[in-house]
Amino acid sequence: MSGGGKVVLVTGASSGIGESIAGYLLQKGYRVYGTSRRAAPGFAGEAPGLPIILHMDVNSDDSVKSGIEQIWRREGRLDVVVNNAGYGLAGAVEETALEEARAQFETNFFGPLRVCRCALPLMRLAGGGLIINISSLAGLIAIPFQGFYSAAKFALEGLTEALRMEVRSYGIRVVLIEPGDIKSAFTANRIVSREAAQNDSPYRENFRRSLSVMEKDEQNGPLPDALGRLVEKIIHTTKPRLRYTFAPLSQKSAIFLKKVLPQRLFEASLMQYYRVK
Ligand SMILES: NC(=O)c1ccc[n+]([C@@H]2O[C@H](COP(=O)([O-])OP(=O)(O)OC[C@H]3O[C@@H](n4cnc5c(N)ncnc54)[C@H](OP(=O)(O)O)[C@@H]3O)[C@@H](O)[C@H]2O)c1
Repeated sequence: MSGGGKVVLVTGASSGIGESIAGYLLQKGYRVYGTSRRAAPGFAGEAPGLPIILHMDVNSDDSVKSGIEQIWRREGRLDVVVNNAGYGLAGAVEETALEEARAQFETNFFGPLRVCRCALPLMRLAGGGLIINISSLAGLIAIPFQGFYSAAKFALEGLTEALRMEVRSYGIRVVLIEPGDIKSAFTANRIVSREAAQNDSPYRENFRRSLSVMEKDEQNGPLPDALGRLVEKIIHTTKPRLRYTFAPLSQKSAIFLKKVLPQRLFEASLMQYYRVK
């Protein structure tokens, strides 16, 4: 399989999953544009063997519009978009301020939406394209003390299901990748809500225990290396599925158990797993 010069945009390519996908596709002959908020305006990192790094903040309409316009002016095509940029927010629902919750949705839900709204007209014009939204197992199973992270990924799942049907007749394919725990900077970059970080929080013990299970699972998880291969496989699939779960069997089986177990039993096992009493 090879890229044949196809143009790919990967948001959040400065680290972790995005960096790994961008690097893999580059090796396979794709023209890869990766984004970072920290890059200087314009294009950077045009050395051979490196993705072209583009400044983009998915929270900003202007930044997304200008980034995608720059790619279009240069390449005259945009074949694949991987909506990957995102971060984790931890804290009890009660102890998360609305502004913290909104910021989570701004990046993890409205971010991919902004990118889609700019990329779709170009893809329709070109008669096709592929959008891959990086969701999470937490987009299928809500995790205690990650309520707004889960909610934003659930929202992304719903949006993707609808969008996929709306754009099919234009030759545009839309899919979800749902990774389980992956070892990346995600753990260190996770934001803890201000109230949850206070020592007098009534949720303190449950929150700390549950967060530490989550952090350990991430740091003991696989590196994101294999995700590039999965993305390339999807690029070469004419009729891709809606969902691609990327997780060890032990985590994948939770999706099955959520479907078949009585809700109370499933919830009790999840609480036990995350040590919530
Ligand atoms: N790691 C996991 O266990 C896991 C599991 C399931 C799903 N995911 C999802 O996978 C995606 C990538 O996570 P990761 O594990 O690779 O985390 P990471 O190592 O922390 O990387 C996050 C990337 O997102 C970018 N980013 C964050 N906010 C941004 C914004 N407002 N605009 C543009 N870019 C932004 C960062 O770039 P700059 O800071 O340079 O801008 C960075 O490149 C996220 O959507 C996450 O929810 C991760």
